[in-house]
Amino acid sequence: MHLPRSASLAAELVWLDEIASTNDALRELVLANPALADRTVVVTDNQTSGRGRLGREWVAPPGKTLAFSVLVRSFSTELSAGWLPLIAGSAVRRGLATVLHARDASTPNLGVKWPNDVLSDGKKISGILSEMLPDGSVIVGIGINMSLREEELPTATSTSLALLTDTTPNPDETLSAVLFELFTLLDAATNNELSTIRDTVVTDSATLGTEVRALMPNGDVIQGRAVRLAPDGALVIEQQTSPLTASNNPSELGEVVVAAGDIEHLR
Ligand code: BTN
Repeated sequence: MHLPRSASLAAELVWLDEIASTNDALRELVLANPALADRTVVVTDNQTSGRGRLGREWVAPPGKTLAFSVLVRSFSTELSAGWLPLIAGSAVRRGLATVLHARDASTPNLGVKWPNDVLSDGKKISGILSEMLPDGSVIVGIGINMSLREEELPTATSTSLALLTDTTPNPDETLSAVLFELFTLLDAATNNELSTIRDTVVTDSATLGTEVRALMPNGDVIQGRAVRLAPDGALVIEQQTSPLTASNNPSELGEVVVAAGDIEHLR
């Protein structure tokens, strides 16, 4: 596929007609060429074994989604690496807002569910999987629901760009809009413009200030208000009720720092 606008932003852009996972394909490119340039992008619209967060699958019918992975080598020397996935969520939110605006689509409420699911009026339109390589660089993998019809959506709480705009999404327009926002934020991070990064992520968050339930990797459930981000980008939840723990031992009320887990917005 011809993606001239996106190619002009990436250090190198590799289109693949079909691939199991763009994250894995990019990792193999790095292994084969350890000097592969920062901001190399691998992209497909036919990812057959996409991987999601927390060991889940990312399922996508051929030709209906955009799956791409970006190699990030330069980042802030002062921000914890935990901010990179949050930055990626903001970049997708902002890129999609640009596309919707250009198409005069009614503006849905686009926000980022911590850490980085992008939601439109509460429905997921994009998911992100960031993975660190042994040399410290990071592969940021992004999936965007492009032209899926209602009956093709992976869950009842998903949506797609086509459903939001009533038009056929353009892959180059969408990818270049997201890459532009991602690279702008990465430039700011690399320059240690910390308040720009923090303000952007907080502004774009659909989670902060709301009531949430967090399902922790160990099975514990934490419920309360998402009050702020910790210095490493983790989510701080202020509990209002005694949490249900997997072991059934109610733990202390108070603030809980969630570094990994699934968040559900309660209202
Ligand atoms: C999630 O919602 O759990 C994250 C989904 C991430 C999917 C993207 S698609 C491009 C990249 N390659 C993968 O195998 N996964 C990510």
